[in-house]
Amino acid sequence: MGVWDVLILTILLLLRKGVMADPSDEACLTHLSESLIQDPTNLLQNWTKSAFANPCSGFTSSYLQGVTCNNGRIYKLSLTNLSLRGSLSPYLSNCTNLQALDLSSNHLTGPILPDLQSLVNLAVLNLSSNQLNGQIPPQLALCAYLNVIDLHDNELSGQIPQQLANLVRLSAFDVSNNRLSGPIPALLGNRSGNLPRFNASSFEGNKDLYGYPLPPMKNRGLSILAIVGIGLGSGFLSLVISFTAVCIWLRVTEQKMAAEDGKISQLMPDY
Ligand SMILES: *[C@@H]1O[C@H](CO)[C@@H](O)[C@H](O)[C@H]1NC(C)=O
Ligand SMILES: *[C@@H]1O[C@H](CO)[C@@H](O)[C@H](O)[C@H]1NC(C)=O
Ligand SMILES: *[C@@H]1O[C@H](CO)[C@@H](O)[C@H](O)[C@H]1NC(C)=O
Ligand SMILES: *[C@@H]1O[C@H](CO)[C@@H](O)[C@H](O)[C@H]1NC(C)=O
Ligand SMILES: *[C@@H]1O[C@H](CO)[C@@H](O)[C@H](O)[C@H]1NC(C)=O
Ligand SMILES: *[C@@H]1O[C@H](CO)[C@@H](O)[C@H](O)[C@H]1NC(C)=O
Repeated sequence: MGVWDVLILTILLLLRKGVMADPSDEACLTHLSESLIQDPTNLLQNWTKSAFANPCSGFTSSYLQGVTCNNGRIYKLSLTNLSLRGSLSPYLSNCTNLQALDLSSNHLTGPILPDLQSLVNLAVLNLSSNQLNGQIPPQLALCAYLNVIDLHDNELSGQIPQQLANLVRLSAFDVSNNRLSGPIPALLGNRSGNLPRFNASSFEGNKDLYGYPLPPMKNRGLSILAIVGIGLGSGFLSLVISFTAVCIWLRVTEQKMAAEDGKISQLMPDY
């Protein structure tokens, strides 16, 4: 081993030692683990208090499941398909270097918190296939680097915030199969210039959501036709029924009168 090798090794070791745990990353993980109330597959067994104190001990890697580090800071949190229960922690915003947050395919409930707005480096937000409810926070538009927003298969309600149309870096957007309502913001549904466009599959499965690129008023048109059809049909039917009823009534009265006539003629002595 030459002098240079020893020197380089020493520097590397010093650098490694010098990586200090970041107190905001620690707060982020501590509170996230508290907000996840159930971990049936026990995959987060290594998420312990002592581990949170230095989550990026490997400089670029972490031995914490689902955590990826860069320059000693957490830059990716990926915990998908782990049957996790609980809610999103407002302290996720303490992971200030976070670029990708993927908690898809779990059983998370509660709202998407506006606190995510302080994740100014966030590029990927995938919270799809959970049971998140409440509105999509318009503050997400402050995460200017977002290029993936995937919120499909949740229970989100309210309107799609107009502000999301400002996210010019978006290349994937999916809010299908929620409970969203109102118009699709025109600048999001029909993006201009060279911006990637989103088709109907990004928006379908929301009963009261309308506007381009969803097919125009298909259901409403059908139901109006159906209502007119039912109206006309039932009108005609009731006409037929009343006509028949009147006919029968006339018949019966006629027969009754005839019978009465008969009775009267029987009662009346013949002259
Ligand atoms: C975590 O974030 C909150 C507000 O977003 C802030 O008040 C708090 O100081 C942060 N904690 C750390 C340890 O950075
Ligand atoms: C937990 O940490 C131990 C060692 O610290 C490691 O062997 C194991 O693979 C880790 N488990 C997970 C799920 O990362
Ligand atoms: C999710 O996990 C289950 C088992 O825990 C597995 O059967 C399934 O294939 C996984 N789904 C995906 C999309 O990875
Ligand atoms: C979000 O996660 C789901 C499931 O883990 C995956 O199928 C989907 O492709 C992801 N979305 C994007 C835009 O990458
Ligand atoms: C989409 O936008 C273009 C102009 O950018 C406009 O000409 C077109 O009519 C719009 N389409 C819809 C369905 O709104
Ligand atoms: C809609 O867009 C998605 C991805 O953005 C693509 O996979 C799909 O093929 C598109 N569907 C149509 C009908 O163009």
